[in-house]
Amino acid sequence: MSNVLVTGGAGYIGSHMCVELLQNGDDVVVIDNLSNSSTASLEAVQRITQRELEFVDGDVTDADVLGLLFADHRFDAVVHFAGLKSVGESVDDPIKYYHNNVNGTLCLVEAMSAAEVKTIVFSSSATVYGIPSKVPITEDFPTGAINPYGRTKLVIERLLEDVYEADPSWRISILRYFNPVGAHPSGEIGEDPNDAPNNLMPYVSQVAVGRLPYLKVFGDNYPTRDGTGVRDYIHVVDLIDGHMKALEFLEDAPKLAVHNLGTGTGYSVLEVLDAFQSACGKTLRHEIVGRRPGDAAESYADPSKAVSELGWQAKFDLARMCEDAWRWQSLHPNGYSSEGSAD
Ligand code: NAD
Ligand code: WQD
Repeated sequence: MSNVLVTGGAGYIGSHMCVELLQNGDDVVVIDNLSNSSTASLEAVQRITQRELEFVDGDVTDADVLGLLFADHRFDAVVHFAGLKSVGESVDDPIKYYHNNVNGTLCLVEAMSAAEVKTIVFSSSATVYGIPSKVPITEDFPTGAINPYGRTKLVIERLLEDVYEADPSWRISILRYFNPVGAHPSGEIGEDPNDAPNNLMPYVSQVAVGRLPYLKVFGDNYPTRDGTGVRDYIHVVDLIDGHMKALEFLEDAPKLAVHNLGTGTGYSVLEVLDAFQSACGKTLRHEIVGRRPGDAAESYADPSKAVSELGWQAKFDLARMCEDAWRWQSLHPNGYSSEGSAD
């Protein structure tokens, strides 16, 4: 049993991590500034698990708050999800992204170092690969993010590498997520974007539930099997299983390791739409529009390093990802702010 600090634990992926940790018997403290979430997710986490967690309404860029937090608790590990993740917003306001993501991680690592807590799992992203020259993508591919959001992830990866190089007693896991989707099978927690969704799956879900009129498919002239963009969608529960395996992997010995978390299979936009239509039993309107700037034609992982080193493999297929996303969305048509369900 461990005592784990989950930064950004009220968010989409972090709330699923809290469920898994609590069900594993670990104690959980969440720090979240609620900039893209609410405590409703944490209430749902406690209902699902029938266990309590401790919530600190605080910002990881606030060294004083972190100092108090680490003085009050003896953490075995930190799982660091707190961050801003909108690519478009990062282009408009890079300073906000560097401050929040890079400075937030720097403050966190300083507090960890001072408290002699040296185990961290970090949420990186396949976005660090930029536009890949081929697929599938292995961890040794050249990195080169093409937007400020992606560059904050790269700077943080470099920061963690430098920390490890200076003090190899750290235990650092950098997980590069591909496209996390889906929801907890209970339907009680899921993705609840504040604004109109940027990402495909939450957009399709909101079309299915009637919050948005139709899906715009960004381009049908890519060199892919049906002309639409191909991505490696991964069920959030599988993704979290990867974090649990990463925490176990770090228990063996001090190390810094980088792993892709993806299924290894790519699906096109139209294939995702089809699968979602089957899951929700409705035909969903869509229109083909122009390409979205900065989009790769194809991106999917080679997950074999995670398979061999972490003993981890994704289990859930696209149909299951869509079924679980739809259960969450139909039970909570307006996300955490709603009661009642859609028909
Ligand atoms: P999310 O926005 O749902 O969760 C992030 C949480 O962090 C939110 O609850 C937010 O309020 C909190 N937060 C943000 N800045 C903070 C700060 N300074 N101090 C304290 N709390 C703060 O996003 P998510 O999808 O759960 O993503 C979690 C992490 O995974 C992020 O770091 C994101 O960049 C990374 N990631 C996400 C995806 C994806 O597609 N969802 C893909 C790759 C990587
Ligand atoms: C998937 C496919 C779009 C919306 C983003 C971030 C990345 C990572 C994961 C955090 C593409 C198409 C989308 C729509 C569409 N996040 N699409 N209509 O771009 O692979 O990755 O999320 O780290 O950093 O960039 O995911 O879900 O936005 O797009 O046709 O309304 O769906 O063109 O082919 P992406 P996505």
